[in-house]
Amino acid sequence: MSANKKLLFLPGDGIGPEVMGQVHRVIEWMDRRRHICFDVTEDLVGGAAIDAQGTSLTDETLSAAMSVDAVLLGAVGGPKWDNVARDIRPEAGLLKLRKEMDLFANLRPATVIPALAGASTLKSEFISGLDMLILRELTSGIYFGKPCGISERDDGTSEALDTQRYTSTEIERIVRVGFEIAGKRERVLHSVEKANVMETGVLWRQITSKVSEDYPSIELHHMYADNCAMQLVRAPKQFDVIVTDNLFGDILSDCAAMLTGSLGMLPSASLGNADESGRRMAMYEPVHGSAPDIAGEDSANPLATILSFAMMLQYSFDDSDNADLIKNAVSQVLARGLRTSDIMQDGMKLVSCSQMGEALCMELDRLAA
Ligand code: IPM
Ligand code: MG
Repeated sequence: MSANKKLLFLPGDGIGPEVMGQVHRVIEWMDRRRHICFDVTEDLVGGAAIDAQGTSLTDETLSAAMSVDAVLLGAVGGPKWDNVARDIRPEAGLLKLRKEMDLFANLRPATVIPALAGASTLKSEFISGLDMLILRELTSGIYFGKPCGISERDDGTSEALDTQRYTSTEIERIVRVGFEIAGKRERVLHSVEKANVMETGVLWRQITSKVSEDYPSIELHHMYADNCAMQLVRAPKQFDVIVTDNLFGDILSDCAAMLTGSLGMLPSASLGNADESGRRMAMYEPVHGSAPDIAGEDSANPLATILSFAMMLQYSFDDSDNADLIKNAVSQVLARGLRTSDIMQDGMKLVSCSQMGEALCMELDRLAA
């Protein structure tokens, strides 16, 4: 019998602990009904870690994250920590995890579940059947470029500086992942930058064109980021896989999330390269934030986090069967009309975060029967 899979749970702040609580239910279900066992340890990150340990990510938590099979993170941040020093702020902990674990490939699939086609702010004819994936570079670009900072000028005014920097190696490795993923999907890749304005965009385009020679069967389109934002709301179904840099990926993935009805539905996987033994570091997290305004009310949507767990089964444990089972259960509970408040529609049944988790496990029972 194979060893238990080792997971680190980092619930974080705001609604993080509530939505992660529902993943515990799914894990218990997997143990009980599928005999898949996980050893789950839990630790602090973000504001919760600042309060308890004085920093948003301790070295111990980081090394724990690097030694498990996979990490599941809830969300970080909130107004309570708006004034803490920048190097320990909640988001800094998350960025450090991404950087130190070298999780350069961030997969953000945006899929419109049929029952939710009417929940989008876009007309359903434009989004029904949408199934796309944004591949965001996660460990470089303007999020990490040096120099950066705010400084005083001689004339008494101040100046702020961020640096957008990409090496050809960094671009090549993320773009290659893009071609590989597109090859397993609809074989259409949009590479998104602003080569008309930015030097990093020029290099991005050159490298992508070069790499595309190795993937002759994939249809490659270069697109400017502003046009891409517009196309996402004009005709989103033209997209299969979008590969883009850290900042554009952050923005465009929020945009794509809304096409699916709610930010509360979108999972993500952040992956590193596999080492010689085939081991790959990975962290899974919902795309939504900590939603401090509704934290503690048991009203958050747990589905993005549960779907992130499904991505973990697929990418870290090569278990597409159980990943698909969870995805089907999500579609089914929604088809039954259950809705958390973020996706509530007329005539549907409003449920809490924990009720949604419970209903999902009942659905898993039905599907596995
Ligand atoms: C995301 C988030 C993060 C980011 C924040 C919380 C630092 O918006 O994962 O999209 O900007 O990357
Ligand atoms: Mg974001």
